[in-house]
Amino acid sequence: MNRGTSPLEILFHADQREVVDKWVAYLRDEGMDVKPVFREPGQGPTGARVAIVWMPPAELFQKEAKLEVVFNVGAGVDAILASGALPDNVDLVRLEDTGMGAKMAEYVIHALAEVTRNMGQFREAQKQQLWSPTSHVYVEDWPVGILGLGVIGSQIAASVAALGYPVMGWSRRQRHFDGVESYAGADGFSKFLSRSRILVNALPLTPETRHILNRETFSQLLPGGHVINIGRGAHLNEDDLLACVNEGSLAGATLDVFTTEPLPKGHPFWSHPAIEVTPHISGTTNARLAMRQIATKLRAWRAGTPFTGVVDRRVGY
Ligand code: OXD
Repeated sequence: MNRGTSPLEILFHADQREVVDKWVAYLRDEGMDVKPVFREPGQGPTGARVAIVWMPPAELFQKEAKLEVVFNVGAGVDAILASGALPDNVDLVRLEDTGMGAKMAEYVIHALAEVTRNMGQFREAQKQQLWSPTSHVYVEDWPVGILGLGVIGSQIAASVAALGYPVMGWSRRQRHFDGVESYAGADGFSKFLSRSRILVNALPLTPETRHILNRETFSQLLPGGHVINIGRGAHLNEDDLLACVNEGSLAGATLDVFTTEPLPKGHPFWSHPAIEVTPHISGTTNARLAMRQIATKLRAWRAGTPFTGVVDRRVGY
């Protein structure tokens, strides 16, 4: 199948028009002949066969009967799938890495240093002009368990293992990476948890992984457990986390994603001394690399050849 070479009409959606302008410019830099189209409220269908979107409203897909493929400018497609608005015959394509994995690995390593070396004490000491060195921290004391060993989780695992931490990985299906003790499925979950002290969540959000970070999960970690959530807010049962941290069965958490974003003012996480909050920045998208990847896939789509990253709707990622 050949889907032609004339200017390609692409339906775009992002929260700001300037963001789309950048995407279009980057696609053109990649040699794509792009004609951007937009759906204004109350307007009829555009007739576009391709869409490139981030956080689209459900209405965007309604009546776009000619739509064949939607590129999500992000790795997580949970919100689009949950809206139920995308017809089954439309392919949904997620970003595969485009620099996100390295950023998320950096975020996790920063959090690891904060926790294992208790860096907060030095910030406090500095305020008082106190010179108070601590002794060596043994990485062996801080085994790190990574939930999800896909494109992103595997990069985090490799980066953390390179620093000498014992690394455990858990995924739906068994995966093998050098330096990572891998566990899979329901059978491997408890074993994986019982070997981990720091728990990093890099899973996609699906009905199966919703609230996977809960009291029962935390209770199986090694003593002094700490949770780092860079997946989705809905992976975490926030009430369970608060209760466990408050009663001391969990030492703390580093959270980048939340059930409600932006995290509402007054939410107990904001002021909790054992909880670090960041505003969903662990794996910011490199728009230039994202458009480069999408341009390559669009060329394959036009030529009718297969490409990776097409979401399997049955598993949800
Ligand atoms: C993503 C995100 O899914 O930024 O890419 O959360």
